[in-house]
Formats: sequence, C-alpha cells, structure tokens
Amino acid sequence: MENMSYWKEVWERKGNGNTKSLEELDGYEDTSADVKEIARQIVKELDIKETDKVLEVACGAGGLAQYIKCGEYVGVDYSSSLVKRHIELLNNSVLHGEANNLIFKDKTFDKVICFGAFHYFPNQEYAKQAISELKRVAKEAIFIGDLPLSSHRDTHLLYDKKDFDGWKVMDGYYNPCRFNVSLKLR
Ligand SMILES: C[S@@+](CC[C@H](N)C(=O)[O-])C[C@H]1O[C@@H](n2cnc3c(N)ncnc32)[C@H](O)[C@@H]1O
Repeated sequence: MENMSYWKEVWERKGNGNTKSLEELDGYEDTSADVKEIARQIVKELDIKETDKVLEVACGAGGLAQYIKCGEYVGVDYSSSLVKRHIELLNNSVLHGEANNLIFKDKTFDKVICFGAFHYFPNQEYAKQAISELKRVAKEAIFIGDLPLSSHRDTHLLYDKKDFDGWKVMDGYYNPCRFNVSLKLR
C-alpha cells in the first residue's frame, strides 16, 4: 500500500474486515443514512428502468447496488478489496478502476451514478476529470450524490452548488451539509 492516498488506504482496509454487511463495508455504519431509501430516490430521479444499462462509479461493496434493479449493472471502484467483496456478496459485474479514468467507450451506459465518493477525491482537478468521464460514458442521465458543502473532516474535498451550473441541484438525502445533482443528457 506504499504511496497510497489516505482515503484509498481507508477503503482498501475496509474491504478486508470480517463483516458481511454491505452498509458497513460501504461506510454507512456511523450515519443516519437509509441506503434502501437513497437507492429508491436515485432510481426515481434517474427514472431507472428494468431494461437500463447502469454504471455505478465508486460502487464499493454494493451497499447501494443491492437495491438497484435494472437491465444490466456494472460497478467500478478503486478499492480492490471492496471490488472483491462486491463480487463475492452480490455477484455483480464490478471492475477495479479510478473515477477519473473509466475504461468504457463513449455512451456505453443509459444512466450513470456516483454516490458518496466525491469527497474522497484528491483535488478539484480530479473531480472535474471524473465529471467529464461520467458525461462521456453516459447516454441519458447522470446522478452525483452526497457532495459536501462543509464537513467535520478536513480530509474531505468540499463542493459548491455553483460548480454545477446547468445541473439540477437537490438537497442531500440524510445530511443537511450535503447536496445531490443530476443531469439529463437528452
Ligand atoms: C461511501 S462508499 C459508497 C459506496 C457506494 N456508492 C454506496 O453508496 O454504497 C465510497 C466508495 O467510493 C470509492 N472511491 C472513493 N474514491 C474513489 C475514486 N477516486 N475512484 C473510484 N472509487 C473511489 C471507495 O473505495 C468506496 O467504495
């Protein structure tokens, strides 16, 4: 784990624990988040249909994925231990990779989700690259959730609603210091 960033190391360690709880593996254990309800709201916001091909970037062990019913689900995460757990526990198609460098061709997915990950990114430049990758691989719509306006942790990258000009900006689902955004591409 030499040269690994602080958060990357945290998420790598997370997947090596003994728990089989997807919520715990994905870091929701100390929050008031109702992950099933969050998934329901995202499915509604993006109008995810049972025929849609969906990509979840920063999918973790599948805390959210377990509640997303769609035609085809693909996940990507930079924590190899969480990718392994996700495959073991949900048998989804999940790849190891960074949010700012997706291996997919343009417009591969109908809908693209990234929830609860942007505050772990190393800097704003990385976040811009990730947004442009989400836009590149999506055909119809994108949802980015749980963006922090402020945080009790100085290791969290913060965002401003003004950074999302042209996007639909919504309140966070369980934390008033967070917000969500979505973008329809057609
Ligand atoms: C709070 S968990 C959320 C997991 C999942 N989206 C959910 O809601 O259940 C954050 C996840 O983001 C992943 N992550 C953080 N930064 C990432 C990056 N730059 N590229 C890919 N994955 C990343 C972590 O490994 C972790 O699995």
